[in-house]
Amino acid sequence: MLIRYKKTFEKIAMGLLSFMPTEKDLKKLQLTIKEYETDENLQLFLWKEEDIIGLIGVRMNDEGNSLEIQHVSVNPSHRNQGVGKRMVKSLKDMYPGKQITANENTAPFIEKCDIC
Ligand SMILES: CC(C)(COP(=O)(O)OP(=O)(O)OC[C@H]1O[C@@H](n2cnc3c(N)ncnc32)[C@H](O)[C@@H]1OP(=O)(O)O)[C@@H](O)C(=O)NCCC(=O)NCCS
Repeated sequence: MLIRYKKTFEKIAMGLLSFMPTEKDLKKLQLTIKEYETDENLQLFLWKEEDIIGLIGVRMNDEGNSLEIQHVSVNPSHRNQGVGKRMVKSLKDMYPGKQITANENTAPFIEKCDIC
């Protein structure tokens, strides 16, 4: 299930975010987490099964009618088992009626999820 990020999840969230090709630099990673903590248009979610194994982060557009997926990441030990697609589906269920889009960093995977 998707759970909202909070500060106690910072380490695990940074670990998952670091799998994004754009988040390899530690300074960039710290800045990204800080933005999720402070910018009210950004929302970060973690995917919990028995453990926390995935992350998905979105930006709400100004009108609040669409969400752009900024980050999507799954623990390497749990890949290719549908976790990424389940996270996207749950996000869609959490925001019914909102359009879900990707940015250039997430589009290759999100386009496989049949939601855009
Ligand atoms: C992308 C990612 C989240 C997918 O998670 P996952 O749980 O393994 O995904 P699922 O099991 O739901 O789906 C697997 C499908 O996604 C595809 N896929 C995996 N990574 C992909 C990528 N970077 N770009 C496009 N497709 C990708 C697989 O080839 C597979 O395709 P298929 O359904 O046609 O066989 C995971 O590989 C990851 O964390 N990658 C590192 C972070 C990253 O690069 N994120 C941005 C991706 S654009």
